[in-house]
Amino acid sequence: MQQVKELKLAALALLLLMGCAAQGKPREIDPNASLYERLGGMVAIQAVVEDFYDNVASDERINGFFIGADANEVNRLLAEQICQAAGGPCKYSGRDMISVHTGMNITEAQFNALIEDLVRSLNKFNVPAREQNELLKVLGSMKGDIIDR
Ligand code: HEM
Repeated sequence: MQQVKELKLAALALLLLMGCAAQGKPREIDPNASLYERLGGMVAIQAVVEDFYDNVASDERINGFFIGADANEVNRLLAEQICQAAGGPCKYSGRDMISVHTGMNITEAQFNALIEDLVRSLNKFNVPAREQNELLKVLGSMKGDIIDR
């Protein structure tokens, strides 16, 4: 009986060890793959967006803008937009950036605050510098449609 118990414990320890090893091992990334694939596909994008939205919601510099917004819907559309912009298979179904943000009078500092919140999430999920830079470039290109409107 004692032997069976020990065997079970050893098996559990082995499984835990394997789990840790699998998590610690960096994902192999094909450098020629699309940004979407290098980011880890839709599951990874959704995880980052969700975490990012939490950061924004607790960021007193900008969270006032989001009072009353449908968090799930904004999350869904953001993930869809990033997926499409990164060369993924999604089709963004939300409103264009000018229509959404006009009337909000978002300043450049507030825009930068939101990007900062995103970078915190990208770092938390260990997104490498190359992928971060590519994503930030795409989002940065939308700045003119978002600020001072
Ligand atoms: C590159 C930066 C940004 C991107 C890509 C982006 C993208 C989006 C998207 C996809 C939506 C949902 C669109 C829809 O409902 O059809 C949205 C909504 C919204 N965005 Fe942005 N946004 C950015 C920057 C900002 C900034 C800097 C602020 C404020 C500080 C902001 C405030 C909002 C708010 C309040 C909503 C919700 C609007 C509503 O539900 O009526 N966004 N944004």
